[in-house]
Amino acid sequence: MTGPCSFMTQAIATAATTATTRENPALPAWEKTNVVGAAVPRVDAHERVSGTAVYTRDLALPGMLHCAIVRSPHAHARVKRIDASRALAMPGVHAVITCDSPEASIPWYFGAKGALSRLLDPECRYEGDEVAALVAETPLQAADAARAVVVEYEILPFVVDYERALRPDAPKVHPFGNQLGEPRVTERGDLASGFAAADVTVEREFHTSCELHTPMETHCSVAQWDGGSLQVWDSTQGVYAIRRGLAQALQLPLASVRVSSRFMGGGFGSKLELGKYTVLAAILARTTGRPVKAALSREETMLCAGNRPANTISIKAGARKDGKLTAFDAKLLGGVGAFPAAATSGYLVLDLYTCANVRVEETAALMNAGQARAFRAPGFPQAAWALEQVIDELAERLGLDPVAMRLKNVPTLSQMRAGQPYTSTGLADCLKNGSAGFGWAAARKRARGRGHVRRGIGVAAGMWGYGGDPTATAIVKLYADGSANVNSGAADIGTGTRTILAQVVAEELGVPIAKIQVEMADTATTQFAPSSGGSQTVLVNMPAARSAAVAVKNELLSLAAAELGKDVKDLSLRDGAIEIAGDAKSVPLAQLKSLAQRQQLVGVGKREPHPEGKVALPFAAHFAEVEVNTRTGAVKVVKYLAAQDSGRVMNALTYENQVLGGVTMGIGFGLTERRMLDRNTGKLVTGAWHDYKIPTALDFPAEFTCLPVDPRDAECNSVGAKGLGEPATVPAAAAIANAVRDAIGVRIFDAPITANAIVTALARTRS
Ligand code: MOS
Repeated sequence: MTGPCSFMTQAIATAATTATTRENPALPAWEKTNVVGAAVPRVDAHERVSGTAVYTRDLALPGMLHCAIVRSPHAHARVKRIDASRALAMPGVHAVITCDSPEASIPWYFGAKGALSRLLDPECRYEGDEVAALVAETPLQAADAARAVVVEYEILPFVVDYERALRPDAPKVHPFGNQLGEPRVTERGDLASGFAAADVTVEREFHTSCELHTPMETHCSVAQWDGGSLQVWDSTQGVYAIRRGLAQALQLPLASVRVSSRFMGGGFGSKLELGKYTVLAAILARTTGRPVKAALSREETMLCAGNRPANTISIKAGARKDGKLTAFDAKLLGGVGAFPAAATSGYLVLDLYTCANVRVEETAALMNAGQARAFRAPGFPQAAWALEQVIDELAERLGLDPVAMRLKNVPTLSQMRAGQPYTSTGLADCLKNGSAGFGWAAARKRARGRGHVRRGIGVAAGMWGYGGDPTATAIVKLYADGSANVNSGAADIGTGTRTILAQVVAEELGVPIAKIQVEMADTATTQFAPSSGGSQTVLVNMPAARSAAVAVKNELLSLAAAELGKDVKDLSLRDGAIEIAGDAKSVPLAQLKSLAQRQQLVGVGKREPHPEGKVALPFAAHFAEVEVNTRTGAVKVVKYLAAQDSGRVMNALTYENQVLGGVTMGIGFGLTERRMLDRNTGKLVTGAWHDYKIPTALDFPAEFTCLPVDPRDAECNSVGAKGLGEPATVPAAAAIANAVRDAIGVRIFDAPITANAIVTALARTRS
């Protein structure tokens, strides 16, 4: 990163005083807390940066074998003959399974009428589809042997373009055709009267490109058997989800499968589900009686570890002179790849703004390419790309400031959830405080530049639509010496969950963070937690941890009251000691005889239910300034402010870190990232980081501000947080697109906005 990131505490305080305050007496006031919210460095920072943290990729078990996978080099082909005898005879090779092996028939990829494929399938529906796997003593022996597996393919017609896939003459990915079910329609109100009431309408079509998953740690599993029990170390977002998947695939009781993931290097949605490589490792470990590691190469993850599907989105929108929206008519089409997956989301069109008349039609198309997967706010950045550019066009037609236009339509009720009220909506504050912090009004008046380098500013809003799974359990233990343990099955996927768990317990028990041990993500030893995805990790697991800590606190305080002959009301916990009201002397926990006698106190906490009749969701507004070189088409994001209402800031450092990451991914989505498939061969052209461009530190704006808007939401849950990881990326690319339009006077409708797109668009305006 090239510039300082400022955390605007002043602005937070302002937002807090202007927003509705609904203090819950069960909670300590925000201002009184000294642990949660602070800029606490990660409790595992040393392990992570020193290399002592053991990621699945780093795991080396005695006798461990290495797995290599044979993949179809064709976009669509049928295996006519497969012969692994030469590979099996090679040095170090222990076992092979192919699409002919009985173990390979485990059903895989499911459609409306059941399984569409198998673990290893002779029909290959995309480049990368698995046909065989083997294990050898070393990764290189395994890779060599994989190349020695002889496969004869019958090459079949393919289609790799999702729009083309829907034409009647397109080659069929599956016998039932390429459209995935019927279009899904969601509607309310009456479009005709909505458009009749509009003073202006805008109708536009947008395309977004397919983005590939590129987590730092590539996908990896290590499998080991102990009799009939399977243990798997996995780089996953959810150990419980992987256990469920493995038990199902291998027909084992849940109790016989243990999945753990101590350190994990990023997932972004690509590590929510069980991978074929994990099951292959388990099968080959059983066959050989040795532990097996299956680690995907970067190139393999780009082929088969999921992607953000490309979308074609058309929106017709109407608004009155005063800026109030009257109607949205949207059609979304997404390309899911060779197997069913979610392809689009109409959520933003339906719920980001108050609008009475809306129709959203969503269609998904299959094509011969890697399957789409969840990808940081699935569907939302695509929809924001279209919606937020249309809002800008409406504002321009109406002569309204884009920020003012959005402020006219901020929702207070969730139209998606039967008109239930939100526990808090910080969108207006995100827009107001964000534009003030960014200097929006002054920047609007500035010249766009006179030479070939033009400057422009843009805004976009966003939200996220998931409030979290209903179940999570945590256990807190307080030991006789005053140290503590917090136990949760959640995975820290890089966001800082481990640190925030420690902060919550530290805040409740008054135990210093250094004395809290965090135990996570192991189905054998930790409590149930849903997968770390959907921006739910904090808001689902922290209330559980908090209530476990409260249980310990209550027991501790009543023990202490009896021992010290005091009233419980007069006791509190601070800095590892019991403080007594009106008494300057405190009693360190290690000196409490009643605690020493029990050895440890245990508290169990569960996530409390969703608030009755209310909706708790996060919002955001982003502001971007770009510089566009009209000769080369180069776009540089020079200044950026991200205002987020994710409820309470749990940790100032991890918070800013999430927002930085979200904006970085938005820069990639808006400006550089694009999966390209060769129309003539159906093969992935951008199959390595050389050709698939993700943003680096040099692409990040020199001036960046993370602006938390904290509406003091005491209703959403007992910690006040609403989820951050995904809303931080939703509006980013759209804000950049609007800034580019402001800079050059021409709107680019397709993502990413490449240099070529800019130069071409400008040339068209000159001719
Ligand atoms: Mo997320 S896309 O639910 O990791």
